[in-house]
Parts: sequence; structure tokens; C-alpha cells
Amino acid sequence: MEVNKAFWLFPPRLVVLVSTTDKLGNYNVAPHSEFINLYGDKHLLISVSKDHDTYANIEETREFVIGIPPISIAKAISIAGKSFPKGVSEFEKASLTPLKADKVKAPLIKECIANFECELEKRIADVGETSLFLGRIVATHYNEKEVTDEISTRMNTKAILSVSKGKIFTTINKETVDTKISPYKV
Ligand SMILES: Cc1cc2nc3c(=O)[nH]c(=O)nc-3n(C[C@H](O)[C@H](O)[C@H](O)COP(=O)(O)O)c2cc1C
Repeated sequence: MEVNKAFWLFPPRLVVLVSTTDKLGNYNVAPHSEFINLYGDKHLLISVSKDHDTYANIEETREFVIGIPPISIAKAISIAGKSFPKGVSEFEKASLTPLKADKVKAPLIKECIANFECELEKRIADVGETSLFLGRIVATHYNEKEVTDEISTRMNTKAILSVSKGKIFTTINKETVDTKISPYKV
């Protein structure tokens, strides 16, 4: 497939982890970079492929958790991006730790700098093979050591930005990690 290099002009996007559960209580976690924090800080928007377990779980439970991972767990991001068969826990495969949330059944991700518990407000639209899910934030958790005053938090964040192919990541300070792990296929 021909690469449209014009897309390389877009800045790296924030990578979040989306954690969900099915109605039997099986946990799921997957990286997502099509993500927007909407004006007002009350809603988060994600785009999810319809053939993903994340999609099925959100449709089933109408809840999800968005975690902001630090670059120190870049490898776990690439591993969680692989498509494991349903029933296989990405939490185990990627050595991530689920923690009980306050208001939703989907788990928090212990290794994340912050976790936002969300209830599904609306499935906004279907766009090709994906759907846009609007989550209403019902609880927030964050690591106070990593979230200090506004300017240093924004400029020194260890939050991961996606650079290339789900395996090269950076931070706003240009700390860069090539996990050498190709996601998407096991
Ligand atoms: C850095 C990165 C960003 C990704 N962003 C998205 C995204 O925004 N939307 C999406 O549907 N899949 C995205 N993916 C792919 C899913 O994470 C991947 O297909 C995963 O296996 C889906 O898992 P699930 O079936 O458990 O939901 C991304 C993968 C990586 C590595």
C-alpha cells in the first residue's frame, strides 16, 4: 500500500489505554490513539473498531476506563495492541495490573499516571469500520507525584505519544522508545 506521507505532518498523538469488561467480568485492555478530551473536561471521545473486543464490551456494559500510561510501560502498550483471541487477558500478557474502580465495573490500570472512569453517554456515529463513543467522566484518579502544577505537568509529562506503527513512542520531552514489538498480530 502506498504511504501518504502528508500524514507524517500530524504531530504524534497521545496514546491511552482503554479498559473494559464483558458482562461475565472478563477484563480487557487495549491501546487507543484516536482520542479527544472535549472542552469542559467532562467528556472523552474514542474511536473503536467494530471488530474489537473493546467495542463489544462497551456496547454490552456501557462503561469504560481511560488510562494515561507513562512511557516506562511502552512495551506493555505494544503487547496490549496485539489481537489475542477473546478470553485471553491482555492484562496478563502485558503484565498490567487491574484495580477495582469506584463507579464502573471496568478496572483501573495500576501502572497508569491517571485513570478516568467513564459511562457511555452516547455512540455518536459510525465512521467506516469504527464507532465514536462519547464517555462521561464519573470519577478520576491520578498519581500526585506526576501531576503537580499545570505548566510542569504539561511540559514534563511522561505520557506516551505514538510515533510510528504502534511500536515507536515518545514523550513531549522527546524521550523515545522503540519497543521492537509489532502490535496487531500475535
Ligand atoms: C499505539 C496504538 C494506538 C491504537 N489506536 C487505536 C484506536 O484509536 N482505535 C482502535 O480501534 N484501535 C486502535 N489500536 C489497535 C488496537 O489497540 C488493537 O487492535 C487491539 O488488539 C484491540 O484489542 P481488543 O480487541 O481487545 O479491543 C491501536 C494500537 C496501538 C498500538
